[in-house]
Amino acid sequence: MTKIRAAITSINGWVPDYLLTNGELSKMVDTSDEWITTRTGIKERHILKGNGKGTSDLGAEAVKGLLEKSGTSPDEIDLLICATATPDMLFPATANIICDKAGLNNIFSFDINAACSGLLYTLITAAQYIETGMYKKVIVVGADKMSSIVDYTDRTTCVLFGDAGSAILLEPTTENVGIMDFIARTDGSGRIHLHQKAGGSVKPATHETIDAKEHFVFQEGQAVFKFAVTKMADVSVEIMEKNGLKSEDITWLVPHQANLRIIEATARRMGIRKDQVMINIQRYGNTTSATIPLCLWEWENQLRKGDNIILSAFGGGFTWGSIYLKWAYDPK
Ligand code: ACO
Repeated sequence: MTKIRAAITSINGWVPDYLLTNGELSKMVDTSDEWITTRTGIKERHILKGNGKGTSDLGAEAVKGLLEKSGTSPDEIDLLICATATPDMLFPATANIICDKAGLNNIFSFDINAACSGLLYTLITAAQYIETGMYKKVIVVGADKMSSIVDYTDRTTCVLFGDAGSAILLEPTTENVGIMDFIARTDGSGRIHLHQKAGGSVKPATHETIDAKEHFVFQEGQAVFKFAVTKMADVSVEIMEKNGLKSEDITWLVPHQANLRIIEATARRMGIRKDQVMINIQRYGNTTSATIPLCLWEWENQLRKGDNIILSAFGGGFTWGSIYLKWAYDPK
């Protein structure tokens, strides 16, 4: 029987207008453009402003643009899965709200939370629904309003994150393109180094949790850095070896954009040149679930059918993984 694979057939990104620069952050906390640039590679990030605006707005804008760009009608979509660590509410799922805002009615939709590996986990999950032959058009959304859980008085985290939405259309193909292979891993003991302390069922919101600033990202940067740099490089090399790929076979590495130093270390371990790596962290910061699709969206016109692409991510959980993808279309 011919193998059905899931192929990306269209991609879209959406960022809000407001730009938070390193210069502006230097007026808010004790930091500098020089520190942020040399330690992280980030220069500026987009922030979603406005009362009542949340992650679903970032996702819905990306989905509306995707439908328009790909000439797809909302009623053709079978399933929408949203990767997010910053849901609009604890329930219902942000995917459900995005569907409502983007005019997708009566479809199957749910969220996946794997922090910065969310997009990777969601793409892998969505691909299974296509490969079984059950669904023909699936949208994967990666959206995060990180500014909603960032403490803008904490210089160790507030310089890192930005807000963005993205949307990917997945469709079946019997050609030798699409999602070829993946590796996904979890180590829940890593949660002590990267989490949000309050607002969940263990520690619901109280006056005390608010006073203690426990509704923001808590990160032990150095501990997370050590895991991220090792695991992202290991898993990228592992997926290459598993598929018999040499560094010269790789057209692009698309790494999660958390820190330029982690990205460069991963590329070095894979033996690939810097010009084979998609990097836009300088303009967006870490947008959690949206970083990988924002890269593919920006580089879309340079991608060719059959290009060998490795997607790699590491995030809270800890979660990490890689996807080996063969790009499915030439520039349109
Ligand atoms: N400006 C100036 N100084 C700063 C800043 C800042 N913005 N932030 C920290 N510092 C200071 C620290 O206070 C410390 O000072 P001290 O030596 O006097 O104590 C010094 O700089 C060094 O701090 P480190 O934390 O050791 O800095 P490091 O080089 O590790 O960089 C960073 C910090 C950028 C956070 C890095 O550790 C990192 O990228 N970690 C991994 C992030 C990541 O990959 N997260 C996973 C994905 S996120 C998710 O899943 C939601």
